[in-house]
Amino acid sequence: MASNNFLNACKREQVETTPVWLMRQAGRSLPSYRALRERHSFMQVATTPELAAEVTLMPLDVLDVDAAIIFADIMTPLTSAGVLFEIKEGVGPVIESPIRESKDLDHLRVPAVDEVAAATIEAIRIVRKQLGGITPLIGFAGAPFTLASYLIEGKPNRDFTRTKSLMYSQPQVWAELMQRLTEMTINYLTAQVEAGAQAIQLFDSWVGALGPQDYATSVQPYVDSIFEGTRSLGVPRIHFGTGNPALLELMSSTGAEVMGIDFRIDLSEAWRRVGSAKAVQGNLDPAVLLGSPELVKERTQRVLQQAAGRPGHIFNLGHGVLPQTPLDNIKLLVDTVHSA
Ligand code: CP3
Repeated sequence: MASNNFLNACKREQVETTPVWLMRQAGRSLPSYRALRERHSFMQVATTPELAAEVTLMPLDVLDVDAAIIFADIMTPLTSAGVLFEIKEGVGPVIESPIRESKDLDHLRVPAVDEVAAATIEAIRIVRKQLGGITPLIGFAGAPFTLASYLIEGKPNRDFTRTKSLMYSQPQVWAELMQRLTEMTINYLTAQVEAGAQAIQLFDSWVGALGPQDYATSVQPYVDSIFEGTRSLGVPRIHFGTGNPALLELMSSTGAEVMGIDFRIDLSEAWRRVGSAKAVQGNLDPAVLLGSPELVKERTQRVLQQAAGRPGHIFNLGHGVLPQTPLDNIKLLVDTVHSA
């Protein structure tokens, strides 16, 4: 949709209709993406600027969304930090040499602003040219806890025991790892904005594995540094995490202009906790899109009712689009938001 609704909502300014985009909107739920992936591996797509740009624009051809998000993975900038990994089909990121002790940090370097994720940065320049200033482009990065959990566990894992065990028993290694990821992330987000990203989102997808005490002492100082180090970029910053609504106040105190809300809490309650000085983004359960059209419509309207027309609501899911989601339900969601 050709409008400033997304960027205006980030600033809690008036909008014509509630803006909507979807986390993971460029991925596997799109037939055009699946067709491209038959010819190229995920990493080929992500590391070829023209292909990454093409996939970024794919959802805009079929969905009337109010923003594009650059196609990459939270792991891809780690290539320029010296990390070897693959993105395994149906599994996710798998690391060649997981980080378990001090010496494993020897090969983890902090790429400078002009070296980090060169292919993604070039893709951002291409997308901005092709969008011609009409639809805003969101850049993004994984937050240090979520990145560290992949680097330590070595592959996707639900209970994060190795991660927590390293955090508790080798605090210096934890601090050094988190510090390097923090510096990399500031450089990466800076490079994205310099290349043309008009908003940025920090994904701390797995941080809900922690309780408030561990978050406050072992994670929050690094997230604080990221928001401190990106404030002067002057673009709206969205902070998203899932799994533990008890972290909302702490996560919100780190300085983002927009809080991404997961689906495990009512939007109205989340907004009350975050405070009216911030915009909120969310928060329909992505699994609702696997249900009937009636359910999609009803639940979408329910989220809108909770936002109650207050300025500063960006409609999104409470986590990423699930791969098996029917495209028609995504279209229905977007149309329901725009016609409300
Ligand atoms: O909107 C978009 O699709 C933009 C691109 C995007 C990808 N990953 C591409 C991708 C974004 C924003 C991400 C973020 C990401 N990656 C997160 C944070 C968001 C979230 O969902 O919590 C996380 C935790 C990852 C790590 C990751 N990458 C996992 C767990 C997986 C496997 C599960 C899955 O989604 O398929 C990936 C692989 C991945 N990243 C794919 C895509 C399109 C699928 C790979 C393929 O094409 O086969």
